[in-house]
Amino acid sequence: MIKVQNLSHSYKKDGKYAIKDVNFEIGEGEIFGFLGPSGAGKSTTQNILAGLLQLQEGDVEVAGYDLKHIKNEMYNKIGMSFEQSNVYSKMTGKENLEFYGKLFDVETRDPQELLDLMGIGDKADIKAEEYSKGMKHRLTFARSMINNPTIWFLDEPTTGLDPAIASEIKDIIRARNKEGVTIFLTTHNMHIADELCDRVGFIVDGEVRLIDSPKNLKLQYGEKFVDVEYINEDEVVKETLSFIIKEDIERLQEILGKYEIQTMHTKEATLEEIFIKVTGRELV
Ligand SMILES: Nc1ncnc2c1ncn2[C@@H]1O[C@H](COP(=O)(O)OP(=O)(O)OP(=O)(O)O)[C@@H](O)[C@H]1O
Ligand SMILES: [Mg+2]
Repeated sequence: MIKVQNLSHSYKKDGKYAIKDVNFEIGEGEIFGFLGPSGAGKSTTQNILAGLLQLQEGDVEVAGYDLKHIKNEMYNKIGMSFEQSNVYSKMTGKENLEFYGKLFDVETRDPQELLDLMGIGDKADIKAEEYSKGMKHRLTFARSMINNPTIWFLDEPTTGLDPAIASEIKDIIRARNKEGVTIFLTTHNMHIADELCDRVGFIVDGEVRLIDSPKNLKLQYGEKFVDVEYINEDEVVKETLSFIIKEDIERLQEILGKYEIQTMHTKEATLEEIFIKVTGRELV
C-alpha cells in the first residue's frame, strides 16, 4: 500500500538532511507506527507520503500512485489528522466538516454523524474558536475521516488528550483498521504504538534504525524477568530474576523448591526500553 525507497529530504540547501535514505513498506490493512524523538523526521516523512511536501529524492508509492507525479485523485484516498488542530475558527464544527468534505470528489460522511462519533455532536453549531483544545483535536480527527480514506495518516493522535478521549480514539482507530484501512501513525508515545501497531519503525536523526513488530522486538531485545515473592522465616522476600542468566534460573528453581511462594509475575522490557537499547536515545 505504501512503498518508500531511499527517501531523503532537505529543507535547506546546505546539504543537511531532515531524513536520509529511508526505506520501508506498509501492507494493506496494516497499522504501522513511526516512532522517534522530537525532530527525528516523523512529520517530514508523513508529509511527503501524504503529498503535502514535495518529493525530492527517492521513490515513493502510495496506494499505487507514484509520488513523482501526484494525481489529485490520490487525495480522495488519504485522510490526515495533524498534531496541531488547524480548523477554521470562525466556522462551526459542522461547517468545518461540510467545507472540508466539498474538497473531495468522492462520497463523504455525514458531518453530524462524525461529530457524534467523536462525542462533540452537541457542539456542532458552535464556532470552533469556542472549542477547547481537546474538542478542536477531536474535530481535526473527525475531519480526517470525512472522505472515508483507505490510507489514514495520524500524527500524534492521542497526545495531550485526557485518557478517556484517548481511549475512544484508539477504539475508533482499531475499528477503522478492522474495516481494512491502512494506518500510518507517528508518535513518540511508545504505549500507543505498542497497543495499536502491527509493526513499528524506530527513527532517529532522520534515519530508520529498525523495523519490526512490537512482539518480535520484545522477544528479540526484551530480556524476560520474573518478580518472585516468597516467605522465609515469616518474612516476605522479593527477588527479581532473569530467565536468561544461568545463575538466576538456578536460583529460581531453588526458591520454588524451598519456599512458600506468595506471588510470581513475569515482566518484559517495554518498547521504550527497547528503543533506548537499540538507538541509544531517549524518546523525548
Ligand atoms: N518547515 C521546515 N523548515 C525547516 N526545517 C524543518 C521544517 N520542518 C521540520 N524541519 C526540521 O527537520 C527535522 C525533522 O523535523 P520533523 O518535524 O519531521 O520531526 P518530528 O519527528 O516530526 O518531530 P516532533 O516529534 O517534534 O513532531 C528537524 O530538524 C526540524 O527542525
Ligand atoms: Mg512531528
